[in-house]
Amino acid sequence: MSAPPAFLHPFAKPSATEFLRIVSGQGAIVTDDQGRRYVDAMGSLWYCNVGHGRAEIADAVAQQLRKLAAFHTFEMFTNDPADQLCQELVAIAPVPDARIFLTSSGSEAVDSAIKLARLAQAVRGEPQRQVIVSRRPSYHGVTYGGLAVTGLPLNQEHFGAMLPDVVQTPHDDLAAVEVVFAERGDRIAAVIAEPVIGAGGVYPPVPGYLEGLRRLCDEHGAWLIFDEVICAFGRLGAWWGAERFGVRPDLVTFAKAVTSGYVPLGGVVVGGPVRQALEADPDLVLRHGHTYSGHPTACAAGLEALAITRREGLLDRAGKIGERLATGLRSLADDGHIAEARGDGAVWAAGLHPDTDAAAVRDRMLTTGVIARPIGTATVSFCPPLVISDDDVDRCVESLHAAVTELRGSGARSNRT
Ligand SMILES: Cc1ncc(COP(=O)(O)O)c(C=O)c1O
Repeated sequence: MSAPPAFLHPFAKPSATEFLRIVSGQGAIVTDDQGRRYVDAMGSLWYCNVGHGRAEIADAVAQQLRKLAAFHTFEMFTNDPADQLCQELVAIAPVPDARIFLTSSGSEAVDSAIKLARLAQAVRGEPQRQVIVSRRPSYHGVTYGGLAVTGLPLNQEHFGAMLPDVVQTPHDDLAAVEVVFAERGDRIAAVIAEPVIGAGGVYPPVPGYLEGLRRLCDEHGAWLIFDEVICAFGRLGAWWGAERFGVRPDLVTFAKAVTSGYVPLGGVVVGGPVRQALEADPDLVLRHGHTYSGHPTACAAGLEALAITRREGLLDRAGKIGERLATGLRSLADDGHIAEARGDGAVWAAGLHPDTDAAAVRDRMLTTGVIARPIGTATVSFCPPLVISDDDVDRCVESLHAAVTELRGSGARSNRT
């Protein structure tokens, strides 16, 4: 047995010694160090909307690195790419009068949204509003703020005390949220929800749920935060999930596809009412920010990724990819190979029968050249680049079909997870 490598991998067994070494990518295809090609059915990790190998982004990044790789934006400092990107995001934002706070990841974006929600409540005279309501299942990241509101108990195990004042309700149960508001509506700072739950298992909202959250927040003076780290930038066939479902949030977190992962970047869209609360006192200082908030090279990558998304009509393409994927998965469900197909736009999942293990299915799919992602033991997820070809969408479905046909009832499990 070889020793584990120097790199301690995220979301992996610390004792693991075997890894799949990806060396290059083009479009929806990535290649490993043995020359094997795979359809990247997950846009890497729910982020590579514009596809791999984009020379335009490489050029924009190289140009910015040569001019000014980085300079901080605390206090009075700013830079052109950060200002331009924020202007572009405000122009497409799903809320009027917005401003943009920038981070380097989705977890930082969620922590920032929680802090901004509480701060805005406090400075408008409601400091007792500390409670954040979130859902189970849900995924909001791994920093203590994002982790505390995440509705996946296993991710919190052994990490000690979480942020207090978090209340969780089942993801599809609006009545449960009504009860929380009835009991402590005057102490709720915000509700946080993914328009379509992604890494928590791929669950679209039940009809009326997001509208109900908006109504409850309005009635009780709480902010509505949409965590759009996966949903934004075309994944659901619109710039934002908020737009897709016609519900206006107060704060929106984003990351991932804002640069398609070429350089890490995230942020928070701060809508009019929150912004007004923060701007009301000219002496207030926002004592929150990251070294790399507004990093010019990351923002240059973001500007180019947005330009590609617009130029190539990827919002429209998402709907077509989703329809093809959904049709394939539904036919597997109709034939009894999988228990169900669920999703929206271009993010879908196969719900497996109890006799099939999701990680074993992922392993089997790798051998037929498709990288999908297991969630828990019963879900295999798909979130392909929005440049994937129809043939490669079909390969994803065929690979899943072959894997579940072989594995159903075999008791096979993965030794990777
Ligand atoms: C909805 C959502 N929020 C937050 C995060 C955390 O983002 P990051 O991994 O960039 O910290 C993720 C990551 O998958 C996510 O899907």
